[in-house]
Amino acid sequence: MSIISEFMNKEHAQLDDLWLNFLELCEDLEAFTRTSELFDKYKTMLLVHMKLEDEYLFPRVSQHLGFEDDAPLIARARDDHKVLLKLLALTEEAFLKQDIERILLVGNNFKQASIKHHERESEIQYPVSDKFISEDEWLEILVSVCDQPKDL
Ligand SMILES: [Fe+2]
Ligand SMILES: [Fe+2]
Repeated sequence: MSIISEFMNKEHAQLDDLWLNFLELCEDLEAFTRTSELFDKYKTMLLVHMKLEDEYLFPRVSQHLGFEDDAPLIARARDDHKVLLKLLALTEEAFLKQDIERILLVGNNFKQASIKHHERESEIQYPVSDKFISEDEWLEILVSVCDQPKDL
């Protein structure tokens, strides 16, 4: 059973693609409106993805491992999220100022941090989740976060 890994790794791939498209489009100021829509799409998708992890998946993993608060592997992932959100906010700030040099600087830092974080989750947090969260429970979690099941 690897339902969590399959679903979440697929979202990581979609997020990584969107971010690369965003960075590419940033080099073309003419495409500001289209790039802005792409950034909003990325941000919305990332926030839902993180909500799934922060509010549902991570507490379940900590609970399963017998921790009242965050298990150490979960604390690490939450710290990653804080860094990613900070870098995302800095990228957005630079984007709104149309400061291309800074967008690329901060946006590429975001990309590297995001790749590392995705690697860790796909090697650690997701496989652990796969071991004890059933397909039914996962569907319930998706419904509670997204109001309806997302495509599995
Ligand atoms: Fe995450
Ligand atoms: Fe993730």
